[in-house]
Amino acid sequence: MKKNKISKNWLRKRKKDKFFIQSKIQGFRSRSAFKLIEMNKEFKFLNSNLSLLDLGASPGGWSQVSRKEIKHGKILAVDIKPMEKIEGVGFIQGDINNSEVSKKILNYFNNKVDIVISDMAANTSGNKELDSFRTGELCLQAMEVAKKILRNEGVFLSKIFMGSIFKEIDKNAKKHFKKVVKYKPLSSKKESKEIYIFCKGILKV
Ligand SMILES: C[S@@+](CC[C@H](N)C(=O)[O-])C[C@H]1O[C@@H](n2cnc3c(N)ncnc32)[C@H](O)[C@@H]1O
Repeated sequence: MKKNKISKNWLRKRKKDKFFIQSKIQGFRSRSAFKLIEMNKEFKFLNSNLSLLDLGASPGGWSQVSRKEIKHGKILAVDIKPMEKIEGVGFIQGDINNSEVSKKILNYFNNKVDIVISDMAANTSGNKELDSFRTGELCLQAMEVAKKILRNEGVFLSKIFMGSIFKEIDKNAKKHFKKVVKYKPLSSKKESKEIYIFCKGILKV
């Protein structure tokens, strides 16, 4: 199928998608917002006074949901892409692997953090196996950030795609966290290999 025919089909499907429609009605910047809402219902981890780091935050759906749930705690969003301002959410534009960005994150909180969430995804190349591998690498990089910055009982939640790198992510997560659960929200498209990994409590290794 030609590229513009694929994108026309994609746009047509998206217009009918109930989560896309709801995101417009409820003022969320992305349909992904519903994935976080669902995972919070399941794991109940977004509470009023906590601090949260949102990696790969743009356009901002997860940060909007976090701000609603975390009424008083500090929230910082990071993304390579720009993000329109959300009241009460700090923003750093940059790559999470850049050391200057890491320093800015540490300075912003000036303390350990309660929650690190990552919805980071690599740009799609058309090669599904390569894309899932790259997004898996981003999950491992987010896990490194989480291990450094999280409080002992902190939560790390990240997107992954089922694929060749999945076993490595699972092994790493089980080595470093007390609780590790894989979860596929209903709002995550069935045909997508996307799932999420929820980790809680740092293990001292
Ligand atoms: C699926 S979108 C996130 C959607 C967001 N959770 C929301 O609800 O609006 C994935 C984002 O990851 C970002 N990203 C990918 N690699 C990154 C990196 N190395 N550092 C920071 N952001 C990255 C992309 O720029 C993209 O905006």
